[in-house]
Amino acid sequence: MKTETLCLHGGYQPGNGDPRVVPIVQSTTFTYDSAAEVAGLFDLEREGFFYSRLGNPTVDAVEKKIAALEGGVGALCTSSGQAAILLAVLNLARSGDHVVSSSSIYGGTFNLFAVTLKKMGIEVSFVDQNAPDAELEEAFRPNTRAFFAETLSNPSMNVLDVTRIADLAHAHHVPLIVDNTFATPVLCRPFEHGADIVLHSTTKYLDGHALQLGGVIVDSGNFDWTCGGFAEFTEPDASYHGLVYTKAFGKAAYIVKARVQLMRDMGCCQSPQGAFYVNQGLETLPMRMEKHCRNAEIVADFLAHHPAVESVNYPRLPGHPLAHLAEKYLPAGCSGVTAFSLRGGRDAGMRFLDALKLVSLQVHVADIRTCVLHPASSTHRQLSDAQLQEAGITPGMIRLSVGLEHADDILADLAQALDKA
Ligand SMILES: Cc1ncc(COP(=O)(O)O)c(C=O)c1O
Repeated sequence: MKTETLCLHGGYQPGNGDPRVVPIVQSTTFTYDSAAEVAGLFDLEREGFFYSRLGNPTVDAVEKKIAALEGGVGALCTSSGQAAILLAVLNLARSGDHVVSSSSIYGGTFNLFAVTLKKMGIEVSFVDQNAPDAELEEAFRPNTRAFFAETLSNPSMNVLDVTRIADLAHAHHVPLIVDNTFATPVLCRPFEHGADIVLHSTTKYLDGHALQLGGVIVDSGNFDWTCGGFAEFTEPDASYHGLVYTKAFGKAAYIVKARVQLMRDMGCCQSPQGAFYVNQGLETLPMRMEKHCRNAEIVADFLAHHPAVESVNYPRLPGHPLAHLAEKYLPAGCSGVTAFSLRGGRDAGMRFLDALKLVSLQVHVADIRTCVLHPASSTHRQLSDAQLQEAGITPGMIRLSVGLEHADDILADLAQALDKA
Protein backbone atom coordinates (compact mmCIF):
# COMPACT_ATOMS: atom_id res chain seq x y z
CA MET A 1 0.00 0.00 0.00
CA LYS A 2 1.06 3.59 -0.60
CA THR A 3 1.97 5.97 2.22
CA GLU A 4 -1.42 7.76 2.30
CA THR A 5 -3.24 4.43 2.64
CA LEU A 6 -0.83 3.06 5.27
CA CYS A 7 -1.29 6.22 7.34
CA LEU A 8 -5.01 5.49 7.53
CA HIS A 9 -5.15 1.70 7.57
CA GLY A 10 -1.70 0.42 8.60
CA GLY A 11 -1.40 -1.46 11.89
CA TYR A 12 -5.09 -1.96 12.57
CA GLN A 13 -7.68 -3.81 10.50
CA PRO A 14 -10.95 -4.07 12.46
CA GLY A 15 -12.91 -7.31 12.21
CA ASN A 16 -16.67 -7.73 12.05
CA GLY A 17 -18.28 -5.46 14.66
CA ASP A 18 -14.93 -4.08 15.92
CA PRO A 19 -14.43 -0.34 16.55
CA ARG A 20 -13.57 1.54 13.34
CA VAL A 21 -11.00 3.68 15.18
CA VAL A 22 -8.00 2.11 16.95
CA PRO A 23 -9.37 1.70 20.49
CA ILE A 24 -7.49 2.94 23.56
CA VAL A 25 -6.82 -0.21 25.56
CA GLN A 26 -6.38 1.51 28.90
CA SER A 27 -5.17 -1.48 30.86
CA THR A 28 -1.82 -2.18 32.45
CA THR A 29 -2.31 -5.91 32.31
CA PHE A 30 -4.02 -8.83 30.55
CA THR A 31 -5.55 -12.03 31.92
CA TYR A 32 -4.75 -15.65 31.05
CA ASP A 33 -6.35 -19.00 31.86
CA SER A 34 -3.25 -20.96 32.80
CA ALA A 35 0.06 -20.41 34.56
CA ALA A 36 1.78 -22.27 31.71
CA GLU A 37 0.59 -19.64 29.21
CA VAL A 38 1.97 -16.81 31.32
CA ALA A 39 5.28 -18.66 31.76
CA GLY A 40 5.46 -19.09 27.96
CA LEU A 41 4.98 -15.36 27.48
CA PHE A 42 7.76 -14.57 29.94
CA ASP A 43 10.11 -17.01 28.18
CA LEU A 44 9.26 -15.38 24.79
CA GLU A 45 8.03 -18.77 23.58
CA ARG A 46 4.60 -17.38 22.69
CA GLU A 47 3.32 -14.01 21.54
CA GLY A 48 0.75 -11.97 23.41
CA PHE A 49 0.24 -8.96 25.63
CA PHE A 50 0.85 -9.44 29.32
CA TYR A 51 2.00 -6.10 30.73
CA SER A 52 1.73 -2.72 28.99
CA ARG A 53 5.37 -1.79 29.63
CA LEU A 54 6.32 -4.50 27.14
CA GLY A 55 3.36 -4.26 24.81
CA ASN A 56 -0.17 -2.92 24.55
CA PRO A 57 -2.69 -3.31 21.69
CA THR A 58 -3.05 0.46 21.06
CA VAL A 59 0.70 1.03 21.11
CA ASP A 60 1.19 -2.10 19.01
CA ALA A 61 -1.11 -0.76 16.26
CA VAL A 62 0.94 2.44 16.04
CA GLU A 63 4.22 0.50 16.04
CA LYS A 64 3.00 -1.64 13.16
CA LYS A 65 1.83 1.42 11.24
CA ILE A 66 5.15 3.25 11.63
CA ALA A 67 7.14 0.09 10.78
CA ALA A 68 5.11 -0.23 7.58
CA LEU A 69 5.57 3.46 6.73
CA GLU A 70 9.36 3.19 7.08
CA GLY A 71 9.50 -0.24 5.44
CA GLY A 72 10.95 -1.96 8.53
CA VAL A 73 10.46 -5.35 10.16
CA GLY A 74 9.32 -3.92 13.48
CA ALA A 75 9.10 -0.83 15.67
CA LEU A 76 9.13 0.09 19.35
CA CYS A 77 7.36 3.17 20.69
CA THR A 78 8.99 5.02 23.56
CA SER A 79 7.95 7.76 25.97
CA SER A 80 9.91 10.46 24.09
CA GLY A 81 12.33 10.94 21.23
CA GLN A 82 15.19 11.13 23.73
CA ALA A 83 14.21 7.70 25.09
CA ALA A 84 14.21 6.32 21.53
CA ILE A 85 17.74 7.61 20.92
CA LEU A 86 18.98 6.29 24.26
CA LEU A 87 17.54 2.81 23.70
CA ALA A 88 18.64 2.71 20.05
CA VAL A 89 22.25 3.25 21.13
CA LEU A 90 22.23 1.15 24.31
CA ASN A 91 20.80 -1.75 22.32
CA LEU A 92 24.07 -2.06 20.40
CA ALA A 93 26.74 -0.38 22.53
CA ARG A 94 27.87 -0.86 26.09
CA SER A 95 30.57 0.48 28.38
CA GLY A 96 33.89 0.47 26.49
CA ASP A 97 32.23 0.93 23.09
CA HIS A 98 32.34 3.91 20.76
CA VAL A 99 29.87 5.62 18.43
CA VAL A 100 30.51 8.09 15.59
CA SER A 101 27.93 10.87 15.35
CA SER A 102 27.38 13.75 13.02
CA SER A 103 27.87 17.06 14.81
CA SER A 104 24.76 18.46 13.06
CA ILE A 105 22.24 17.12 15.54
CA TYR A 106 19.58 18.23 18.00
CA GLY A 107 21.07 19.80 21.15
CA GLY A 108 19.40 17.26 23.45
CA THR A 109 20.98 14.41 21.50
CA PHE A 110 24.33 16.17 21.72
CA ASN A 111 24.06 16.37 25.53
CA LEU A 112 23.04 12.73 25.75
CA PHE A 113 26.01 11.68 23.62
CA ALA A 114 28.67 14.05 24.95
CA VAL A 115 27.81 13.95 28.65
CA THR A 116 25.44 11.18 29.74
CA LEU A 117 26.65 8.34 27.51
CA LYS A 118 30.21 9.27 28.44
CA LYS A 119 29.33 8.71 32.12
CA MET A 120 28.03 5.29 31.11
CA GLY A 121 31.36 4.45 29.45
CA ILE A 122 30.24 4.93 25.84
CA GLU A 123 32.38 7.44 23.97
CA VAL A 124 30.96 9.43 21.06
CA SER A 125 33.12 11.19 18.44
CA PHE A 126 31.51 14.04 16.51
CA VAL A 127 32.26 14.53 12.84
CA ASP A 128 31.26 16.84 10.01
CA GLN A 129 28.93 14.60 7.98
CA ASN A 130 29.81 16.55 4.82
CA ALA A 131 33.57 15.90 5.20
CA PRO A 132 35.24 13.72 2.55
CA ASP A 133 35.25 9.93 3.06
CA ALA A 134 38.94 9.87 4.00
CA GLU A 135 38.33 12.27 6.91
CA LEU A 136 35.26 10.37 8.13
CA GLU A 137 37.16 7.05 7.91
CA GLU A 138 39.53 8.31 10.59
CA ALA A 139 36.71 8.52 13.14
CA PHE A 140 36.06 4.76 13.11
CA ARG A 141 37.80 2.59 15.72
CA PRO A 142 37.84 -1.16 16.37
CA ASN A 143 35.24 -0.63 19.16
CA THR A 144 32.92 1.59 17.06
CA ARG A 145 29.38 0.22 17.09
CA ALA A 146 27.32 2.69 15.02
CA PHE A 147 27.18 5.91 13.01
CA PHE A 148 24.41 8.32 14.04
CA ALA A 149 22.99 11.24 12.03
CA GLU A 150 19.76 13.14 11.26
CA THR A 151 18.21 13.08 7.77
CA LEU A 152 17.49 16.81 8.03
CA SER A 153 19.38 18.24 10.96
CA ASN A 154 17.84 20.29 13.74
CA PRO A 155 18.19 23.27 13.40
CA SER A 156 20.84 23.76 10.71
CA MET A 157 18.91 21.83 8.01
CA ASN A 158 21.97 19.88 6.91
CA VAL A 159 20.96 17.08 4.50
CA LEU A 160 22.41 13.63 5.12
CA ASP A 161 23.94 11.79 2.18
CA VAL A 162 22.36 8.59 3.47
CA THR A 163 23.83 6.17 0.93
CA ARG A 164 27.39 7.50 1.23
CA ILE A 165 27.34 7.38 5.04
CA ALA A 166 25.62 3.96 5.09
CA ASP A 167 28.31 2.57 2.75
CA LEU A 168 31.01 4.00 4.97
CA ALA A 169 29.43 2.54 8.13
CA HIS A 170 28.95 -0.85 6.48
CA ALA A 171 32.58 -0.91 5.34
CA HIS A 172 33.40 -0.74 9.07
CA HIS A 173 30.78 -3.41 9.92
CA VAL A 174 28.54 -1.06 11.87
CA PRO A 175 24.95 0.08 11.27
CA LEU A 176 23.79 3.57 10.32
CA ILE A 177 21.19 4.96 12.76
CA VAL A 178 19.17 7.83 11.28
CA ASP A 179 16.96 10.25 13.20
CA ASN A 180 14.25 10.85 10.59
CA THR A 181 12.18 13.23 12.74
CA PHE A 182 12.09 16.26 10.41
CA ALA A 183 11.80 14.35 7.14
CA THR A 184 9.19 11.78 8.27
CA PRO A 185 8.63 8.68 6.11
CA VAL A 186 6.47 10.85 3.85
CA LEU A 187 9.48 12.84 2.59
CA CYS A 188 12.29 10.28 3.01
CA ARG A 189 12.51 6.56 3.79
CA PRO A 190 16.13 6.12 4.88
CA PHE A 191 16.02 2.30 4.66
CA GLU A 192 15.62 2.61 0.89
CA HIS A 193 18.99 4.38 0.82
CA GLY A 194 20.91 1.98 3.08
CA ALA A 195 20.19 3.09 6.67
CA ASP A 196 19.74 0.24 9.16
CA ILE A 197 17.87 1.76 12.11
CA VAL A 198 15.52 4.74 11.94
CA LEU A 199 14.12 6.64 14.87
CA HIS A 200 11.80 9.57 15.42
CA SER A 201 10.72 12.00 18.02
CA THR A 202 7.00 11.36 17.33
CA THR A 203 6.45 14.54 19.36
CA LYS A 204 7.16 16.39 16.11
CA TYR A 205 5.46 15.85 12.73
CA LEU A 206 4.11 12.32 13.36
CA ASP A 207 1.88 13.72 16.09
CA GLY A 208 2.06 17.18 14.54
CA HIS A 209 -0.47 18.86 16.82
CA ALA A 210 1.81 19.43 19.85
CA LEU A 211 -0.25 16.99 21.94
CA GLN A 212 1.97 14.12 23.03
CA LEU A 213 5.62 13.43 23.73
CA GLY A 214 6.81 10.23 22.15
CA GLY A 215 9.48 8.42 20.23
CA VAL A 216 9.86 5.35 18.07
CA ILE A 217 12.69 3.07 16.91
CA VAL A 218 12.28 1.17 13.63
CA ASP A 219 14.45 -1.76 12.54
CA SER A 220 15.10 -2.37 8.83
CA GLY A 221 16.03 -5.98 9.58
CA ASN A 222 18.92 -5.60 7.13
CA PHE A 223 21.95 -5.34 9.39
CA ASP A 224 23.88 -8.56 10.01
CA TRP A 225 24.47 -8.63 13.78
CA THR A 226 26.62 -11.76 13.41
CA CYS A 227 29.32 -9.77 11.57
CA GLY A 228 31.42 -9.46 14.76
CA GLY A 229 31.47 -6.96 17.60
CA PHE A 230 27.83 -7.41 18.63
CA ALA A 231 28.16 -10.17 21.23
CA GLU A 232 24.87 -9.29 22.93
CA PHE A 233 23.03 -10.41 19.80
CA THR A 234 24.94 -13.63 19.25
CA GLU A 235 25.69 -14.81 22.78
CA PRO A 236 23.18 -16.19 25.31
CA ASP A 237 21.14 -13.64 27.31
CA ALA A 238 21.21 -14.78 30.93
CA SER A 239 18.01 -12.83 31.63
CA TYR A 240 16.12 -15.15 29.23
CA HIS A 241 17.65 -18.51 30.18
CA GLY A 242 20.38 -18.27 27.55
CA LEU A 243 18.29 -17.12 24.59
CA VAL A 244 20.35 -15.95 21.56
CA TYR A 245 18.58 -13.08 19.75
CA THR A 246 19.92 -13.67 16.24
CA LYS A 247 19.00 -17.35 16.43
CA ALA A 248 15.58 -16.88 18.00
CA PHE A 249 14.40 -13.79 16.07
CA GLY A 250 16.48 -13.62 12.87
CA LYS A 251 15.93 -10.33 11.02
CA ALA A 252 13.97 -8.88 13.94
CA ALA A 253 16.75 -9.52 16.50
CA TYR A 254 17.50 -5.81 17.09
CA ILE A 255 13.96 -4.60 17.68
CA VAL A 256 12.94 -7.64 19.76
CA LYS A 257 16.01 -7.21 21.95
CA ALA A 258 15.25 -3.50 22.40
CA ARG A 259 11.78 -4.38 23.67
CA VAL A 260 12.24 -7.51 25.73
CA GLN A 261 15.55 -6.51 27.29
CA LEU A 262 15.84 -2.70 27.39
CA MET A 263 12.19 -1.67 27.57
CA ARG A 264 11.65 -4.39 30.17
CA ASP A 265 14.48 -3.01 32.30
CA MET A 266 14.26 0.74 31.67
CA GLY A 267 10.50 1.15 31.29
CA CYS A 268 10.38 4.27 29.11
CA CYS A 269 7.24 3.12 27.29
CA GLN A 270 4.54 5.04 25.42
CA SER A 271 1.09 5.00 27.02
CA PRO A 272 -2.05 3.74 25.22
CA GLN A 273 -3.55 7.24 25.36
CA GLY A 274 -0.30 8.70 24.03
CA ALA A 275 -0.17 6.20 21.18
CA PHE A 276 -3.78 7.09 20.30
CA TYR A 277 -2.77 10.74 19.86
CA VAL A 278 0.21 9.78 17.72
CA ASN A 279 -2.11 7.68 15.57
CA GLN A 280 -4.47 10.63 15.13
CA GLY A 281 -1.56 12.65 13.80
CA LEU A 282 -0.30 9.87 11.55
CA GLU A 283 -3.64 9.64 9.76
CA THR A 284 -3.19 13.08 8.17
CA LEU A 285 0.62 13.12 7.95
CA PRO A 286 0.95 13.06 4.12
CA MET A 287 -1.43 16.00 3.60
CA ARG A 288 0.18 17.98 6.38
CA MET A 289 3.72 17.39 5.12
CA GLU A 290 2.79 18.52 1.62
CA LYS A 291 1.37 21.80 2.93
CA HIS A 292 4.23 22.31 5.43
CA CYS A 293 6.71 21.98 2.55
CA ARG A 294 4.82 24.34 0.20
CA ASN A 295 4.38 26.98 2.92
CA ALA A 296 8.06 26.70 3.93
CA GLU A 297 9.15 27.18 0.31
CA ILE A 298 7.08 30.37 0.08
CA VAL A 299 8.45 31.63 3.40
CA ALA A 300 12.08 30.72 2.58
CA ASP A 301 11.80 32.55 -0.74
CA PHE A 302 10.33 35.61 1.00
CA LEU A 303 13.12 35.64 3.62
CA ALA A 304 15.83 35.13 1.00
CA HIS A 305 14.69 38.32 -0.76
CA HIS A 306 14.20 40.43 2.39
CA PRO A 307 16.86 43.13 2.95
CA ALA A 308 17.02 42.52 6.73
CA VAL A 309 17.87 38.84 6.26
CA GLU A 310 21.51 37.84 5.93
CA SER A 311 21.09 34.15 5.08
CA VAL A 312 18.41 31.49 4.84
CA ASN A 313 19.02 27.80 5.27
CA TYR A 314 16.37 25.86 3.39
CA PRO A 315 17.89 23.15 1.20
CA ARG A 316 15.24 23.53 -1.52
CA LEU A 317 16.24 27.14 -2.22
CA PRO A 318 18.01 27.49 -5.59
CA GLY A 319 21.77 27.70 -5.14
CA HIS A 320 21.77 26.04 -1.69
CA PRO A 321 25.04 24.06 -1.35
CA LEU A 322 23.11 20.86 -0.45
CA ALA A 323 20.33 21.28 -3.03
CA HIS A 324 21.61 18.23 -4.93
CA LEU A 325 21.22 16.04 -1.80
CA ALA A 326 17.78 17.50 -1.11
CA GLU A 327 16.81 16.70 -4.70
CA LYS A 328 18.01 13.11 -4.29
CA TYR A 329 16.69 12.26 -0.82
CA LEU A 330 13.81 14.69 -0.33
CA PRO A 331 12.29 15.19 -3.79
CA ALA A 332 8.88 16.16 -2.40
CA GLY A 333 10.22 18.84 -0.05
CA CYS A 334 12.34 19.57 3.01
CA SER A 335 9.64 19.83 5.71
CA GLY A 336 8.33 23.04 7.25
CA VAL A 337 11.51 23.89 9.12
CA THR A 338 13.83 26.62 7.97
CA ALA A 339 16.64 28.51 9.68
CA PHE A 340 17.74 32.06 8.97
CA SER A 341 19.96 34.84 10.32
CA LEU A 342 19.31 38.57 10.41
CA ARG A 343 21.85 41.16 9.32
CA GLY A 344 21.55 42.80 12.73
CA GLY A 345 22.80 39.62 14.44
CA ARG A 346 21.62 38.36 17.80
CA ASP A 347 20.07 41.67 19.01
CA ALA A 348 18.01 42.08 15.85
CA GLY A 349 16.96 38.44 16.22
CA MET A 350 15.69 39.08 19.74
CA ARG A 351 13.74 42.18 18.61
CA PHE A 352 12.25 40.13 15.76
CA LEU A 353 11.10 37.36 18.12
CA ASP A 354 9.51 39.84 20.51
CA ALA A 355 7.62 41.59 17.69
CA LEU A 356 5.92 38.47 16.28
CA LYS A 357 2.15 38.34 16.80
CA LEU A 358 0.73 35.30 14.98
CA VAL A 359 3.90 33.22 15.01
CA SER A 360 4.51 31.97 18.54
CA LEU A 361 7.77 31.68 20.40
CA GLN A 362 7.93 28.16 21.79
CA VAL A 363 10.27 25.29 22.57
CA HIS A 364 8.84 23.11 19.87
CA VAL A 365 9.10 22.48 16.17
CA ALA A 366 7.13 20.63 13.50
CA ASP A 367 3.73 21.82 14.70
CA ILE A 368 0.64 22.69 12.64
CA ARG A 369 0.95 26.24 14.08
CA THR A 370 3.92 28.32 12.91
CA CYS A 371 6.44 28.68 15.70
CA VAL A 372 9.88 30.11 16.16
CA LEU A 373 12.88 29.66 18.43
CA HIS A 374 16.40 30.96 19.00
CA PRO A 375 18.45 27.71 19.29
CA ALA A 376 21.63 29.25 20.75
CA SER A 377 19.74 30.47 23.83
CA SER A 378 17.37 27.51 24.21
CA THR A 379 17.56 24.00 22.74
CA HIS A 380 21.30 24.23 22.06
CA ARG A 381 22.13 26.39 25.08
CA GLN A 382 24.52 23.84 26.66
CA LEU A 383 26.82 23.89 23.61
CA SER A 384 30.01 25.97 23.63
CA ASP A 385 30.56 28.50 20.82
CA ALA A 386 32.86 26.01 19.07
CA GLN A 387 30.27 23.22 19.40
CA LEU A 388 27.55 25.56 18.11
CA GLN A 389 29.69 26.30 15.08
CA GLU A 390 30.27 22.57 14.46
CA ALA A 391 26.52 22.01 14.66
CA GLY A 392 26.05 24.72 12.01
CA ILE A 393 24.39 27.18 14.43
CA THR A 394 25.31 30.86 14.36
CA PRO A 395 24.61 32.96 17.50
CA GLY A 396 21.89 34.90 15.67
CA MET A 397 20.26 31.96 13.89
CA ILE A 398 16.48 31.73 14.16
CA ARG A 399 14.65 28.46 13.61
CA LEU A 400 11.27 28.91 12.02
CA SER A 401 8.84 26.00 11.89
CA VAL A 402 6.31 26.88 9.23
CA GLY A 403 2.81 25.66 10.00
CA LEU A 404 -0.40 25.22 8.08
CA GLU A 405 -1.86 28.74 8.29
CA HIS A 406 -2.43 30.59 5.01
CA ALA A 407 1.00 31.64 3.72
CA ASP A 408 -0.16 35.27 3.35
CA ASP A 409 -0.85 35.52 7.07
CA ILE A 410 2.53 34.02 8.00
CA LEU A 411 4.33 36.40 5.61
CA ALA A 412 2.43 39.42 6.96
CA ASP A 413 3.49 38.64 10.53
CA LEU A 414 7.11 37.98 9.54
CA ALA A 415 7.19 41.23 7.51
CA GLN A 416 5.95 43.43 10.37
CA ALA A 417 8.37 41.80 12.82
CA LEU A 418 11.30 42.18 10.40
CA ASP A 419 10.46 45.87 10.11
CA LYS A 420 10.75 46.22 13.88
CA ALA A 421 13.95 44.15 14.06
C1 LIG B 1 15.59 15.75 15.63
C2 LIG B 1 15.16 15.50 17.03
N1 LIG B 1 15.41 14.29 17.59
C3 LIG B 1 15.04 14.00 18.86
C4 LIG B 1 14.42 14.93 19.64
C5 LIG B 1 14.03 14.58 21.06
O1 LIG B 1 12.68 14.29 21.07
P1 LIG B 1 11.72 14.49 22.35
O2 LIG B 1 11.63 15.94 22.62
O3 LIG B 1 10.44 13.85 21.91
O4 LIG B 1 12.35 13.74 23.48
C6 LIG B 1 14.13 16.20 19.11
C7 LIG B 1 13.46 17.22 19.93
O5 LIG B 1 13.33 18.35 19.56
C8 LIG B 1 14.51 16.48 17.78
O6 LIG B 1 14.27 17.67 17.22
